[in-house]
Amino acid sequence: MARPFLFFHLAFALCFFLLIRYLLLADAAVVEHTFHVGNLTVERLGQSQVITAVNGQFPGPKIEARDGDTVVVHVVNLSPYNITIHWHGILQRLSSWADGPNMVSQCPIRPAGGRYTYRFNVTGQEGTLWWHAHVSFLRATVYGALLLRPPPGARYPFPMPHREATILLGEWWNASVVDIERQALLAGGAPNNSVALTINGLMGGYQLTVERGRTYLLRIINAALNYQLFFKVAGHSFTVVAADACYTDPYDTDVIVIAPGQTVDALMRADAHPGRYYMAAQVYQSLANATYSATTTALVTYQRRRQPPSLETPPPPVMMPSMPAFNDSATAQGFYASLTGLLQDGTPTVPLHVDTRMLVTFGLGVTPCAPAQTLCNRTLGSVAGSMNNVSFQFPTAMSLLEARMRGAPEGVYTRDFPDRPPVMFDFTSEAASADSAVMATSKGTKVKALRYKETVEVVLQNTAILGAENHPLHLHGFNFYVLAQGAGNFNAHRHVRTYNLINPHQRNTVAVPAGGWAAIRFTADNPGMWIMHCHLDAHLPFGLAMAFEVDDGPTPDAVLPPPPPDYPRC
Ligand SMILES: *[C@@H]1O[C@H](CO)[C@@H](O)[C@H](O)[C@H]1NC(C)=O
Ligand SMILES: *[C@@H]1O[C@H](CO)[C@@H](O)[C@H](O)[C@H]1NC(C)=O
Ligand SMILES: *[C@@H]1O[C@H](CO)[C@@H](O)[C@H](O)[C@H]1NC(C)=O
Ligand SMILES: *[C@@H]1O[C@H](CO)[C@@H](O)[C@H](O)[C@H]1NC(C)=O
Ligand SMILES: *[C@@H]1O[C@H](CO)[C@@H](O)[C@H](O)[C@H]1NC(C)=O
Ligand SMILES: *[C@@H]1O[C@H](CO)[C@@H](O)[C@H](O)[C@H]1NC(C)=O
Ligand SMILES: *[C@@H]1O[C@H](CO)[C@@H](O)[C@H](O)[C@H]1NC(C)=O
Ligand SMILES: *[C@@H]1O[C@H](CO)[C@@H](O)[C@H](O)[C@H]1NC(C)=O
Ligand SMILES: *[C@@H]1O[C@H](CO)[C@@H](O)[C@H](O)[C@H]1NC(C)=O
Repeated sequence: MARPFLFFHLAFALCFFLLIRYLLLADAAVVEHTFHVGNLTVERLGQSQVITAVNGQFPGPKIEARDGDTVVVHVVNLSPYNITIHWHGILQRLSSWADGPNMVSQCPIRPAGGRYTYRFNVTGQEGTLWWHAHVSFLRATVYGALLLRPPPGARYPFPMPHREATILLGEWWNASVVDIERQALLAGGAPNNSVALTINGLMGGYQLTVERGRTYLLRIINAALNYQLFFKVAGHSFTVVAADACYTDPYDTDVIVIAPGQTVDALMRADAHPGRYYMAAQVYQSLANATYSATTTALVTYQRRRQPPSLETPPPPVMMPSMPAFNDSATAQGFYASLTGLLQDGTPTVPLHVDTRMLVTFGLGVTPCAPAQTLCNRTLGSVAGSMNNVSFQFPTAMSLLEARMRGAPEGVYTRDFPDRPPVMFDFTSEAASADSAVMATSKGTKVKALRYKETVEVVLQNTAILGAENHPLHLHGFNFYVLAQGAGNFNAHRHVRTYNLINPHQRNTVAVPAGGWAAIRFTADNPGMWIMHCHLDAHLPFGLAMAFEVDDGPTPDAVLPPPPPDYPRC
């Protein structure tokens, strides 16, 4: 009697399993969008401004996908500028062709009708990311959210929020950002500061309505070009649950610190007295003696019960959060150093064996003014950014990735990016950094070649040349573990033992302390060409960048496929 019964159970279990599997596969969707990039006239600060935008929207369209989905975005460039789009934080496993940095993974999509279809899979990623232009300063207005939800049947590793809200923080210029950049390059100096900060593209106009007692997931993205930001909501505190689409241990705080390129997912409980509260974003300025500061606000409003007009009371006054001082590096560093990674079954942990160790100094420096730099200060020279004293020059004839594919780097790049700074000096001393021999930097297009699956540790060391500053360094193609960070010069004897090798958090963009260092680790398991650069956009054309060239692996599933047929070439 028992046997047929058991058989029935087994058959039922098998059918159920097949059904679930079918549903899961059937649910792995294709998320398809068309982006028309073109001119958009918007009114801000009492004047109309022509900006470059996607589909006539500012900020641009939100992309929502689930782990396992394929994302397909057809980009049509109707703008007057060269365009590329970067899917910031997407690992692009075996799809380096779709990464987007201009002249690194592709030549630009040409103006007046150029097209390219970006195609990539979302594999093992959940959380908040974003997309943005990756050519000149155009990402100032060409950006949007890219939200990755858990696959069907999976949950967040935290209580389900009632609602969620995307908070895109940005900067606004009352001029063409292409002109702003052009002028900075001609002068060989810093670009004009923005005239305002924005929240979801607005200055003071965004409103989040909440219900008392509910919890909201804020997906905060710093899309500003050149400034790190403090973010607060008056009368409320947060629990941070993810950064750069990597889950963190819950971290309670009333202030969020976020660098350009980074994202923070934070739960906010609407547990204040029902009323109206400002949310505010304010510049965090790490450069000594700098004076630029700006703040912008939006509203958090509690839903009010409908009253007959006779009983309606005037809305209560709005509370403003008390913001940190604009130069409060202690608060910034306190936030960054408090994050730890959430350990989940089945997710990889930090590699303990390291194949390659690098010490990479980075910051500013000077090079002689070029003849075309007509506004350049001939005494000082042109400001340059550098890593290990190489100021990265973007190739012009073809992209780094195309040259890698052809197996012919000659004339495009060289494989001699150094593992260590060529000259050792007291990196974070203002006096040592003022030596003109130390300030000079050389130009080159040098990459660091890595074997497939090589494990790499990079100690990123800021220098004080032209002023120590907290630079957010973004690595394409990988998430990395942030093992430790600290002030002053890195010292292996003292600092290696401070590494968190148990539950370090992962990011794609690390804000390295001003006049300090951060140690990161990753496994080079993604063949392609991956740029690592400062996400303060002012520093990218200065050359604060380098690239990793990762070899193909030994098996067919570890080989970068050929480029798609519509791949833009120069
Ligand atoms: C777009 O705006 C730029 C700058 O204002 C202008 O030069 C160009 O003609 C405009 N292009 C189109 C297609 O409207
Ligand atoms: C996405 O994954 C599918 C299934 O593994 C694969 O066939 C396809 O080539 C991948 N697409 C890209 C762009 O990597
Ligand atoms: C831009 O804004 C700044 C600060 O508000 C103002 O001084 C300047 O005149 C404005 N420029 C233009 C072109 O409107
Ligand atoms: C940058 O600022 C300077 C000084 O305020 C101004 O003269 C110049 O026009 C600005 N540049 C652009 C491109 O707006
Ligand atoms: C911050 O700026 C204020 C005023 O601009 C200055 O007095 C103070 O010393 C600065 N603090 C730090 C830590 O640099
Ligand atoms: C050029 O740079 C030198 C050295 O920093 C400085 O003293 C001088 O004022 C600058 N000249 C101009 C026109 O900005
Ligand atoms: C960087 O390179 C330049 C040009 O070769 C050289 O003059 C300078 O001393 C170097 N500086 C450092 C800190 O290595
Ligand atoms: C900041 O200003 C102080 C006082 O004027 C000066 O001693 C110091 O060198 C300056 N620091 C930088 C990085 O410019
Ligand atoms: C646009 O891209 C083409 C092809 O790479 C390049 O030749 C041209 O200089 C670029 N234009 C600008 C304004 O950068």
